[in-house]
Amino acid sequence: MSETPPHDTADVLVVGSGIAGCAVALQAAREDADVCLITKAERPADASTDWAQGGISTARGDPEALKRDVLAASDGTADPNAVDVLVREADAAVEDVLLETLGIGFDEREDGAFDYAREAAHSERRILHVDAATGRHVLRPFLNYLDDHDRIEVRQDTAALELVTHEGRVHGVLTDEEPTGNPIYAGATVLATGGIGALYPRSTNPDGATGDGISMAALAGADVADLEYVQFHPTAFDGEEPFLLSEALRGEGAVFRNGDGRRFMTEYHSDAELAPRDVVARAVATEREETGEVVLDVSPIAFDAEFPTIAESCREHGLEGAEIPVAPCEHFLCGGIDVDDRGRTSLEGLYAVGECARTGVHGANRLASTSLLEGLVWGLRAGEAAAGRKAKPRVVDATELRDSDPALPERFSAEKFTRLQRTMNDSLGLERDPDGIARASAVLRRLKGEVDAYTRTRTSRELYELRNACVTALLIARAAGENPESRGCHHLVREDAPTAEPEVPR
Ligand code: SIN
Repeated sequence: MSETPPHDTADVLVVGSGIAGCAVALQAAREDADVCLITKAERPADASTDWAQGGISTARGDPEALKRDVLAASDGTADPNAVDVLVREADAAVEDVLLETLGIGFDEREDGAFDYAREAAHSERRILHVDAATGRHVLRPFLNYLDDHDRIEVRQDTAALELVTHEGRVHGVLTDEEPTGNPIYAGATVLATGGIGALYPRSTNPDGATGDGISMAALAGADVADLEYVQFHPTAFDGEEPFLLSEALRGEGAVFRNGDGRRFMTEYHSDAELAPRDVVARAVATEREETGEVVLDVSPIAFDAEFPTIAESCREHGLEGAEIPVAPCEHFLCGGIDVDDRGRTSLEGLYAVGECARTGVHGANRLASTSLLEGLVWGLRAGEAAAGRKAKPRVVDATELRDSDPALPERFSAEKFTRLQRTMNDSLGLERDPDGIARASAVLRRLKGEVDAYTRTRTSRELYELRNACVTALLIARAAGENPESRGCHHLVREDAPTAEPEVPR
């Protein structure tokens, strides 16, 4: 008689522990589902949410105004129906989860009203924040809340390696728990694995942002979309260890100066420092190239008093003055696994939320402080839908992962990641051209082939992260190569490239 392999089950399995994954778990448990949330993170700080600075946008009672700003920042490319969902549900989701359930102490003014902040491309102050360290002040209480919930099991340091598929449906994941490839079967599987920062040499993401969910979903046959829209943040510290200097600084009055000491953003856009992020990032790159450097001048604002966490990071990096050298840095992927307004992917039983998902809300360029909001709103919607399916976990035949060969050669992953990052930086950065994209695709295909040769007989998190990074990079290159139109974050420098429509008027 064959032995039943070890396995675990859950009604709803969530992969990832940022705000989106946490919201799925919360809502699914509220609907009486038994939830297992696995995360490769060992500390909250391993999730991008924990690193979020600026805050979470609300609609502040005026969804139409927020919708106009989201659409304008996306250069008119965001899906209006998806944006409607976001703006209509924004205030209720924030009220329900962040204020009533978790009791987050967002910053207030002296009169006790919320201290709403403004960021680039927002026409008004509507962003709730805690200092400029909002992510950690939201995520840590959220994880503590889930830890105490009797319908939710949180397993840290547990990576998903592959989706379990059977007859076109997803039934859970294979994990890197012992024994290697241990499956968790689920009625619904929700990917909330975050972004792709590790594909670039400079990123504002934690190191573990290796595109895992996108790669696993695409390899299982799920549709992906808008992957060419990789967003670069204009203001990361220009040093060995880049760290984010929140857009909220410019929202309060910080300005850019180029190497000649001149303020330049007014020459690029009527909203100057508060123009959409893609416009500002390209302007900063141009001025750096032409004048040697760009600094963010924080002298117009009460930097230490209003932004103590960022001021502290500056001191830790030996920065004392009011002028902080900055350079653009990979920040957020606007596209991802294609989902509908409940986070449903094209594969039965599979959902995706947060940065790994493409809801249509961001189009070609995301508006500041809408990523936590999108994660929260879609997380709640997907949690409800996933629990509502009432599909029971089914134990199906899962692929066995092979782990017969010795460990990876020393520096194998590090060297391959360096090659991958260099390729992405050179050809799939702020500016692209068709020849460069084609060359990058060829390099990435070779790289993936080299990595695949190892995954046939070895199974380790490190190797699968590398595999996922290669697959996601190739998908980005393919999407970029197939899109001849410069729009938002996909900016082609070829002279005959069709240009974007004029700015969408507010
Ligand atoms: C920031 O604080 O500048 C980042 C906000 C965001 O990415 O939405």
